[in-house]
Amino acid sequence: MADFRNEIEKRRTFAIISHPDAGKTTLTEKFLLYGGAIQLAGAVKGKKNARHAVSDWMEIEKQRGISVTSSVMQFQYEGYCINILDTPGHQDFSEDTYRTLMAADSAVMVIDASKGVEAQTRKLFKVCVMRDIPIFTFINKMDRDAQSPYDLLDEIEKELGIGTYPMNWPIGSGVDFKGVYDREKSEILAFEGDKELRGQHEVKAHEIDLNDAALETILGESLCQTLRDDVELLDGAGYEFDLEKVRHGKLSPVFFGSALTNFGVEPFLESFLRMTTSPLPRQTSEGVVDPFSKDFSAFVFKIQANMNKAHRDRIAFMRICSGKFEKGMEVTHVQGGRKIKLSQPQQMMAQSREIIDEAYAGDIIGVFDPGIFSIGDTICTGKKVQFEGIPTFAPEFFCRVQQKDTMKRKQFVKGTTQIAQEGAIQIFQEIASGMEEVIVGVVGTLQFDVFKYRMENEYNVEIRMETLPYSLIRWIDTPDVDLKKLNLTSDTKKVQDIRGRYLLLFSNEWSIRWALEHNEGLELSEFSR
Ligand code: G4P
Repeated sequence: MADFRNEIEKRRTFAIISHPDAGKTTLTEKFLLYGGAIQLAGAVKGKKNARHAVSDWMEIEKQRGISVTSSVMQFQYEGYCINILDTPGHQDFSEDTYRTLMAADSAVMVIDASKGVEAQTRKLFKVCVMRDIPIFTFINKMDRDAQSPYDLLDEIEKELGIGTYPMNWPIGSGVDFKGVYDREKSEILAFEGDKELRGQHEVKAHEIDLNDAALETILGESLCQTLRDDVELLDGAGYEFDLEKVRHGKLSPVFFGSALTNFGVEPFLESFLRMTTSPLPRQTSEGVVDPFSKDFSAFVFKIQANMNKAHRDRIAFMRICSGKFEKGMEVTHVQGGRKIKLSQPQQMMAQSREIIDEAYAGDIIGVFDPGIFSIGDTICTGKKVQFEGIPTFAPEFFCRVQQKDTMKRKQFVKGTTQIAQEGAIQIFQEIASGMEEVIVGVVGTLQFDVFKYRMENEYNVEIRMETLPYSLIRWIDTPDVDLKKLNLTSDTKKVQDIRGRYLLLFSNEWSIRWALEHNEGLELSEFSR
């Protein structure tokens, strides 16, 4: 058995997702405080102070308060080594969130207690359920007026189609917020306003009997009665805890708290760590890979260019699935079909990027990418394996893009190609045309803004964008198709993707049916193969 078993067993790798402003940054910061990775509240973000401590936020993120890029942070807590993967907080970037979830073993969903599941995040949260990984819900901002906890649970169940199990239950909210009742321990954690440091919220009553009259003195008569009724209802209602269901993403344990006042954060973290597992075996085309295997394996789930403006570098983020990584080790890049040395491996340590010497299954490393990696690629030592690919979402919005200054062609091509390789946009071309103009497809329109911003700021190219009326895309699967002979509606467009495959852009379902009915043997698919 490999000697790094202990290291892997203590790993917990999770993604944290939320609607902007629900409190993801604040919660992450409290986790880091517990782990001693940072000393001061406000170090992770702080719209007031240095917001850019952790990731290289773009101007657009500052202006709109939307997190566009995602970053990785590692910290130690009570013998665990925790990797947090941050995700963009808007559904227009759900594809990016999906890729990040591929690298995570579980997810924490932060919900604003007054807002519930918000419209802009519905798609994002659904993406979370698609992966079948454990999902933990933290209902935040209980110190503010909140929706009824029953309504919040109902909404999560309906929106996401998973069960919920309240681990604790709030006693009042807003100015009347008195704390939470821990259902497992039968104890009350009392809320005492703003406590920035750990462990200062007092446990008011252990192993309490809810019928004890003394409880009324602590909570007041009305809240005490409500709590008694609620607990009775919860115990009687069909909420059944089942750890297996939690681990398969079918049941989400729900916690109520307040990240800003540091209330309920540590109990949440502790329960979370208890219920989640260390990295599990992962499927590859050659069978299952055991995380404890002596052979190292990882896959690329994210590529990000220009993270460091001074160096104009490009980093491929990899999730290690098995074994131990050592600096300078030689690995096989399976898709590239050759051996490479992983140079300058980096890891985000709370506030900085550091060159690391070793990392283990469960960890995320960022590796300098000279342009050889694509999203979904596998790298490994020993026997060659290949992890399942990361699907591309079908774009729903399209724009024709041209450079304003024709002298900037080289930068234009470089910018569009690199941003497409990162998976931030998809690019298509008119059949047999050059790269003077491209068609850019995205899943959410905010991606257009990010693309334009990056072209102008990172590649120094002003672009012109013209919205196109298409909303559906189909790859042509028919071998040796004669494009000229296709009988299509006048609003259907024939294009090519970067790998030269042919596809059709449609404005509506009707045109797709037309194409299928009028071209015998035509095979169309929603995904590129
Ligand atoms: P995000 O990363 O999900 O976008 O949310 P973030 O943590 O930045 O929190 C958004 C706002 O909500 C912040 O206020 C934060 O202080 C506040 N907040 C977070 N958790 C709680 C909570 O439990 N209770 C209350 N009352 N507020 C909370 P802001 O004014 O936008 O920023 P700042 O000026 O405080 O930094």
